[in-house]
Amino acid sequence: MLYSEKEVLYQTLNEQLSLLLEGEPNVLANLSNASALLKSTFPNTVFAGFYLFDGNELILGPFQGGVSCVRIALGKGVCGESAASRQSVIVGDVKNYSNYISCDSKALSEIVVPMVKKGQLLAVLDLDSSVLDDYDEIDQKYLEEFVSILLDKTEWNFSMFEEKV
Ligand code: SME
Repeated sequence: MLYSEKEVLYQTLNEQLSLLLEGEPNVLANLSNASALLKSTFPNTVFAGFYLFDGNELILGPFQGGVSCVRIALGKGVCGESAASRQSVIVGDVKNYSNYISCDSKALSEIVVPMVKKGQLLAVLDLDSSVLDDYDEIDQKYLEEFVSILLDKTEWNFSMFEEKV
């Protein structure tokens, strides 16, 4: 089977992620490195990162890119929509998508992949591109694999301290 250039890039990316996370369960470290890996692999990326679900809403987590919106309610925006439906969402042209929250005018298209482990919604992976229609079903397939590697290899414990300090 012949793979496209993009598929080969994704296969390398996902192998790199597996190697990078080998023996490292820390959630902040792994999400931070995962966003750096995505941003450096795809030059059109204006935002690559995570919104973490706190049981009520999505809150900005580790990312690479410009300053971004912090809190997103379930169902709101592309991130909230993906979190609520637990389905990946691809938006080819964000300017023509009514349920879109604009954080950076350079972002023209977007893909969001939900992160669900043992039935629990934990986060969403969000990628924004400076190119229109930059994401398709190949991105979705490999980013869903990327997310499942992260979910498998990471301990999802968000409470860093027993008590607030
Ligand atoms: N555009 C997103 C908001 C997050 S930023 O893109 C980083 C949305 O509509 O949910």
